[in-house]
Amino acid sequence: WPATATWADGELHLGGLSVRDLAAAYGTALYVLDEADFRERCRAWLAAFPDGDVHYGGKAFLAPAVVRWLADLGLCLDVCSGGELAVARVGGMAPERVVFHGNNKSVAEIGQAVEWGVGCIVLDSLQELERVAHAAGRLGTRQKVMVRVKPGVDAATHAALATGGERTKFGLSIASGEADEAVRRVLAEPGLELTGLHSHIGSQIFDLDSFAEAARRMVAFLRAVELANHVTIGRLDLGGGLGVSHLPGEKPAPTPAELADALRATVPDDIHVSVEPGRNIAAPTTVAVYEVGTVKGRFVAIDGGMSDNPRPATYGAAYTAVIASRTSSADTRPMTVVGKHCESGDILIEEIGLPADVAPGDLLAVPCSGAYQRSAASNYNLVPRPAVVAVRDGAAHVVVRRETEEDLLRLYP
Ligand code: LLP
Repeated sequence: WPATATWADGELHLGGLSVRDLAAAYGTALYVLDEADFRERCRAWLAAFPDGDVHYGGKAFLAPAVVRWLADLGLCLDVCSGGELAVARVGGMAPERVVFHGNNKSVAEIGQAVEWGVGCIVLDSLQELERVAHAAGRLGTRQKVMVRVKPGVDAATHAALATGGERTKFGLSIASGEADEAVRRVLAEPGLELTGLHSHIGSQIFDLDSFAEAARRMVAFLRAVELANHVTIGRLDLGGGLGVSHLPGEKPAPTPAELADALRATVPDDIHVSVEPGRNIAAPTTVAVYEVGTVKGRFVAIDGGMSDNPRPATYGAAYTAVIASRTSSADTRPMTVVGKHCESGDILIEEIGLPADVAPGDLLAVPCSGAYQRSAASNYNLVPRPAVVAVRDGAAHVVVRRETEEDLLRLYP
C-alpha cells in the first residue's frame, strides 16, 4: 500500500482522503495515485544514485503532472514514442533531461526529438543511426546519442519482459560485432556525439545478480571499444527493471540502494552509471478502485478488467484486493475477481479469499497498480479508460481525466 494509506472502520484513506469519497466524486474504475509516495520513491532513487542520472521510465505511467513532479525533484525522463515526447514537453521537462528510446522510432519522431533538443537518443539499429545523423545534419546540430547494446543476459523474469538476451529485438549484439560497428560509425559521424552505452535487461526483475552480470559485460565492452577507438566514453546507462512485489507475504524486491551497491561493486568509479526505473517508482504509488457489480457463485465482477489492467491476462501477473469501503465479515471464501469484458480470460485475480459478505456496491481496492496498467489500458469492448486522480495532504486533483463515450465517438468519421 502507498505510504499514506490508513484504515478507519474498514475504509481506506489515501493522501488524507477516503477512497469512498473519491469514488463518489470521480467514479469507478478509478486509479488513485499517492503523490507523496511517488515523490518519496523518486527521492530514494536519487539518494541511491547521487552521482548518476535517474531517468524515470515514462512508459510505466506518464502524465503532464507526473512530468512536473519529476522536473521538480531533479529526475530525468525516458520516453519511447512521439506521444510520450509530447507529454514530456507539455509537462515542462527540460529537453536536455529527456532520453528517447525505442527499437523503431519513425523518421518523424526522430525529427521532433532532434528539433526539440532532447538530451540523448538511444540508437537501436544502424539504420536509425543514419536517420538520426541525417536529422541532425538537416537541422545543423550535433545530436548526443547512446548505443543500445545486447549484453547477452537472460534475466529471470517473464519471457515477454526479458530484453537482454541475444534473441531479443532490442539493441545491437556484442557477439555479432554489430555493437562495435555502431560505435565506430557514431564516432565517425560529425552530426553525432557518443555519450554512453546503454543496456536494459528486462522488467520485474528481483535478482540483483542479473543486473550485476549485465553491468560486468557492459563495463568490459565499454573498455574494449574505448581502447580500440582511442576515446573515453565513461558512461553506462543500465536501464530499468527493478521489480515490485504485489502480494502480501511475497519476498520484497531489492531496494534502489541495494541495486546501487550491486552495481557499484561491479562498475569502476570512473564510469558514470545512469538508471531508468519505471515500475519500481510508479507501481506501489497507486491503488486501483473498482465497484463490485455482481456476485455470482465464486465470481465477483468489477467495473473494469482487462482493458484497464491487461497484466494478468498478458503475463499471468498476480494481484491482491480488499474491500475498501466498509468493515466486512471476518469469514472469507475463495473467490475469482473478474472484469466486465466479453471473454473468459478477463480475470483480474484467479483465486483470492474475500469476505463472505462481499456484495454489489462494495469498493474493491487493488494495490500496486501504478505501472503498466493505465498506461497500457485499451478501449477493448469500447469501454472508456479510467481516470487517474492524485491525492496529497487531503486534496485531490485529476491527472488523467476519465474517458467518455464522446471521446470514443470522436474517432469515427
Ligand atoms: N528502460 C527501457 C529501455 C525500457 O524498455 C523499460 C521498460 C524501462 C527502462 C523501465 O523498466 P521498469 O523499471 O519499469 O521495469 N508491460 C510490461 C512491462 C514492459 C517494460 C518495458 N520496458 C508489464 O506490464 O510488466
